[in-house]
Amino acid sequence: MLTGGRHDVRERTGAIGSRRRAAPIAALAAGLAVACGPVPEPLDAAPPSDPAPVALGAPDPGAREPAGAPPGASRGGVRIYPETLLELVPGDPRDAVRLGDVALCQPCHVEVYDAWRASVHAASSFDNPWYRQAFDAFRAEQGAEASRFCSGCHDPVMLLAGAVDVPIEATDPRAQLGVTCMVCHGAVEVRADGNASYTLSTSPVPIPDPANREEVAVHVAALTPAPLRTAALCGTCHRGFLGPDMHNPHFLGGVDDLTPWARSAFAGSRASRLDAPVEEATCQGCHMAQVPASDRDFATTDGHIATHRVPGAHTALAAARGDDAQREAIAARLADVARVDVAALRSGGRSTRPADGARLAPGAIELDVVVRNLGVGHHLPGGTRDLQDTWLEVEVRDADGALVAEAGTRHAQTPDETAHRLFAAPVDDEAEVQLLHHVQHFRAMVFDRTIAPRDAEVVRYAFELAPGVAQPLSVDVRLRHRRHARAMYDAACEATRSERGRAFLATAVTLGRAPIDACVPQPIVELASARVWLGEGASSRAPEGGATAPAFARLFDHALARIGDVSEHLDDARPSLAAALRAATTDRERARVHLQSARLEARQGRLAAALAAAGRAERLAGEGPAIHRVRGDAYAQVWRWEDAAAAYRRAAEGAPGDDGRWTDLARALGSAGRDAEALLAADVGLRLTPQSGELLRTRYLALDAAGADDAELARAAYLARRPPDRLSELQLRSGVRDPACARERMPMHVHALRPAR
Ligand code: HEC
Ligand code: HEC
Ligand code: HEC
Ligand code: HEC
Ligand code: HEC
Repeated sequence: MLTGGRHDVRERTGAIGSRRRAAPIAALAAGLAVACGPVPEPLDAAPPSDPAPVALGAPDPGAREPAGAPPGASRGGVRIYPETLLELVPGDPRDAVRLGDVALCQPCHVEVYDAWRASVHAASSFDNPWYRQAFDAFRAEQGAEASRFCSGCHDPVMLLAGAVDVPIEATDPRAQLGVTCMVCHGAVEVRADGNASYTLSTSPVPIPDPANREEVAVHVAALTPAPLRTAALCGTCHRGFLGPDMHNPHFLGGVDDLTPWARSAFAGSRASRLDAPVEEATCQGCHMAQVPASDRDFATTDGHIATHRVPGAHTALAAARGDDAQREAIAARLADVARVDVAALRSGGRSTRPADGARLAPGAIELDVVVRNLGVGHHLPGGTRDLQDTWLEVEVRDADGALVAEAGTRHAQTPDETAHRLFAAPVDDEAEVQLLHHVQHFRAMVFDRTIAPRDAEVVRYAFELAPGVAQPLSVDVRLRHRRHARAMYDAACEATRSERGRAFLATAVTLGRAPIDACVPQPIVELASARVWLGEGASSRAPEGGATAPAFARLFDHALARIGDVSEHLDDARPSLAAALRAATTDRERARVHLQSARLEARQGRLAAALAAAGRAERLAGEGPAIHRVRGDAYAQVWRWEDAAAAYRRAAEGAPGDDGRWTDLARALGSAGRDAEALLAADVGLRLTPQSGELLRTRYLALDAAGADDAELARAAYLARRPPDRLSELQLRSGVRDPACARERMPMHVHALRPAR
């Protein structure tokens, strides 16, 4: 098959070159339709003459949607189990062997294969001790059938083989395959639900004679199905939820990087705020960048190929396998994604913003540390937000470098109650925070301290300054990350050392792979840092890191973070807004401040002031969805639903891929009594987020008000996804159980720095 030299092939198949150039444009169009536009790309839009067995034919789009069912249901695939949304192309065999045949691709795609091997996707299955301990616990309690739920995303080959319905043997090589080539390259249709909502083609892959142009074209077409380059493909597994189908008592959202991405400037939604320019990128754009590659891979073009390492933040896996190249890829991905700063200081009744050079009076001092997510296309940290260990360290030192007070600095070694952590806290029926991702016990998220794309959070610290401490004081802030918090590390280490664990390691060795030893110490990566100087003599010392950002950015970030807070603290944003306005150097920057002022006034129910500030922003920056959205919020706050709906409509039209804007619009229209229009808006939103309880509620209310026959079905759909009834009870109880939990749950809590002894 491998006739001729590889360079020859490339020269002789010049036609491929033009095809390759065309592909991204087609993919972009598909991306807009599937991921950014309101209406998913219809599957039957593929050319009818497509030689590859990838089209599902042209099912009647509405055929399987019963009246009253929300839009966006499957379009004709065959669902194989109730516990997962994975489907097969009708008529295709349930061919797990083909799905798992990565060796078929390896000879011609060496670069891709090697990178994929090192990736988390190739380690998402039972050889992964973090996953295995959680899976085994889930299965022991919920039963084998329920565990098909996990396997749709983590072990699709095992699922198709029926191998998760029987005990999982450590010697089974399929249990170490993970997300294989043909899971992504065979996903011919995707739906927005999540929980493995993709439709697989398992018909034979046309393998080309690389010298035969036509065969190569057929191969390329077959392996680049329409969803491949869209975020929607990734979203099928990077959006998840729990519910009765997986034997959980009620609906609860799970991993979801797709929704925050779709609402962000990275996805082209400019509805969250007026921002500095942001380069748009899909999941692939950030996680599968073009990297240098050798011509040993047929798909290397101009010395580059899309990396299949998909670097994110899983430094623990790279370390556990001793894979330095993967660690470097992840380190590069983690560079410059966040900024930290000491944005404000209060001492002796005086507030200084930014904190640099603040006059210090002995007694109580409060510091506002700001963390801004600059470059993560979803929450920081993302993925399984319950497992991430991302925390802040703060150190205050005197002029001689002696420690005065600190927080979070012991977290790396032992539990440190002064640490502020960026994570989400799921609790069980007893309101106990769950640390091992045992999702069968998840009942509610009592708080989520991760930071949305381009958003900022403020963390307040307090300490007592004794008289006579040598000034200037330095304050150092570091944002540090490791993949797993301590309890998870311990559980996975134990799962590595157990008899079963050792059997998995032995199989990995037999297969010629680097075994995953979860007892290897986890690397810690510093995501961002800052140093400021305070008090007398501060002006002769230079700030560092995030504190060297322009004054405008520092003040703006502080205001942004405060306005996102609970209402009691909103007014504290005003001085930062005023200072940011003075520091602004361009009209755009001024507009950004005015819009935040409008947001603040809107939240406080001052309609006229909000509209005036929004008008100022609009005159400087031109109209846009972020401005319309704030106007909508201002009207909604005072129950002027007709006006709110008009503004929200413009926001939604300007950011059609952002489900939150359709949610706002649907709610306002419903409240204004315009049920037919509310229904239409809800349906657009539901195509983007089919499992949204809020949209399903609006949809039901609109149908009910119209006296529609299918209102009952819509009601059932809503009730199945409404938020847990016990949320506030569990929040309260978790606080009683654990004071640290009560503190973290409060949006503007104060961490007392630990005084040096
Ligand atoms: C006999 C060699 C051979 C085998 C085996 C093979 N491929 Fe290819 N593949 C090629 C050639 C040649 C190209 C065209 C490269 C080019 O010119 O860009 C290609 C291109 C591709 C592309 C690039 C499509 C694009 O965007 O241009 C994908 C994806 C792909 N192959 C996936 C696979 C997968 C998955 C397998 C295993 C199921 C596989 N290939 C097996 C030879 C092979
Ligand atoms: C998680 C999903 C996923 C998995 C798993 C996966 N791929 Fe891909 N692959 C993609 C996406 C997405 C692209 C397109 C990337 C782009 O152009 O941005 C791609 C591109 C490619 C290309 C073309 C590369 C280029 O730069 O033109 C080849 C070849 C390929 N994949 C082969 C494979 C093989 C072989 C495997 C298994 C060893 C594999 N893929 C596993 C998603 C995946
Ligand atoms: C079939 C399901 C599936 C699909 C499709 C999928 N992923 Fe994943 N992905 C996973 C699972 C499962 C994990 C986590 C594995 C683990 O840690 O056990 C993961 C992990 C990751 C990570 C974490 C890597 C790290 O170093 O932390 C990134 C990034 C990622 N995927 C990106 C993507 C992108 C980009 C796409 C689309 C091209 C995609 N995924 C498509 C299932 C999927
Ligand atoms: C603008 C760049 C960007 C885009 C777009 C982006 N990501 Fe990420 N992603 C990052 C960075 C940076 C990290 C590492 C920081 C972190 O942990 O949040 C990351 C981390 C991750 C992780 C690992 C989480 C962890 O901390 O272990 C997953 C999974 C992931 N991304 C999936 C996705 C998916 C799915 C999409 C598309 C919906 C996507 N990403 C879009 C930049 C991006
Ligand atoms: C909707 C798809 C999906 C389903 C269903 C799913 N997961 Fe995951 N899981 C993911 C993704 C995506 C990640 C990676 C996120 C990241 O990198 O932070 C992940 C990560 C994990 C991790 C962390 C692994 C590591 O390497 O650190 C564990 C543990 C886990 N899942 C357990 C489970 C169990 C057990 C089930 C079934 C009860 C399950 N998952 C169901 C998508 C899914």
